[in-house]
Amino acid sequence: DENCEGGEEYLFKIVLIGDSAVGKSNLLSRFARNEFDANSKATIGVEFQTQVVDIDGKEVKAQIWDTAGQERFRAVTSAYYRGAVGALVVYDITRRTTFHSVNRWLQELTSTSIQYQNVGASIYKDENGGLHNGLVRTADPFRGSQYHGKTVLIELALIVTLSQNDSTMARMLVGNKCDLDNIREVSTEEGKSLAEEEGLFFIETSALDCTNVQTAFEIVIREIY
Ligand code: GTP
Ligand code: MG
Repeated sequence: DENCEGGEEYLFKIVLIGDSAVGKSNLLSRFARNEFDANSKATIGVEFQTQVVDIDGKEVKAQIWDTAGQERFRAVTSAYYRGAVGALVVYDITRRTTFHSVNRWLQELTSTSIQYQNVGASIYKDENGGLHNGLVRTADPFRGSQYHGKTVLIELALIVTLSQNDSTMARMLVGNKCDLDNIREVSTEEGKSLAEEEGLFFIETSALDCTNVQTAFEIVIREIY
C-alpha cells in the first residue's frame, strides 16, 4: 500500500497463555534475548516485551504479553487479552493436564473477544486493510495511566484496527518442552488434531534447546502481518 511507505512501523500485540510452568516465560526470553532460565519463577500478573522482527525486509514490532498461568491471576490476566491480534496457547508435552486446559484457555480468549480498537496514532488500518490518516480514539482501558474511565487518545507509531475474534486473531497451539521426549505424555498427533479441530496453527517447541521457538513466533507475526 502506498500509504504505508516511508518506514512506519507495525505494532502487534501478541499474548502468551497457558497453564503455569508450561514454559511461556522461557519461550519469550529465548525468543527475545536468547536466554533460558532453568529456575525461572512463576510470572506474577503480566509482563510484556517488545521485539522487532524482520518480515520480508519490513520492521515489524511485536509486543508480546507474557501472562501468569497460575489460577489466582486469571481474573487479571484475561483483561490483557484485549487488543491482541495473535495468541500462543502453550501446553507442556510432559503434563497431560496442561493439554486438557487448552480448551479452557481458548474459551477465555474468545470470551474476551469483544469488538475492540487497538493501540493507535496517526495512521491506522481498518478491518479491510485500508489505511487512514488521523488520530484514532481507542477505548482500551489497559493502556497505562491514561485511562480515566473514558475514551482516550494513544500516541504510537501506527494503529492497527482489528476486531478481535477468531477470524482475525492468529492463534498457535504450542506443545513446549519437546526436548523431554522420553517423558512425553501428549503425542504430536494429539496436538496436531486438537489444533486442526480448533483451527489453530500447531508447533512443538523447546525453550531449552531452542527448537522452533523463533519459528513459532514468526508464524504468528507473519500471519497477522
Ligand atoms: P507461569 O509464569 O507460572 O505461568 O509459568 P511459565 O509458563 O511462564 O513457565 P516458565 O517459563 O517459568 O517455566 C517453568 C519451568 O519449566 C522452568 O523450570 C523452566 O526452566 C522449565 N522449562 C521451560 N521451557 C522448557 C523447555 O522447553 N524444556 C525444558 N526441559 N524445561 C523448560
Ligand atoms: Mg511465566
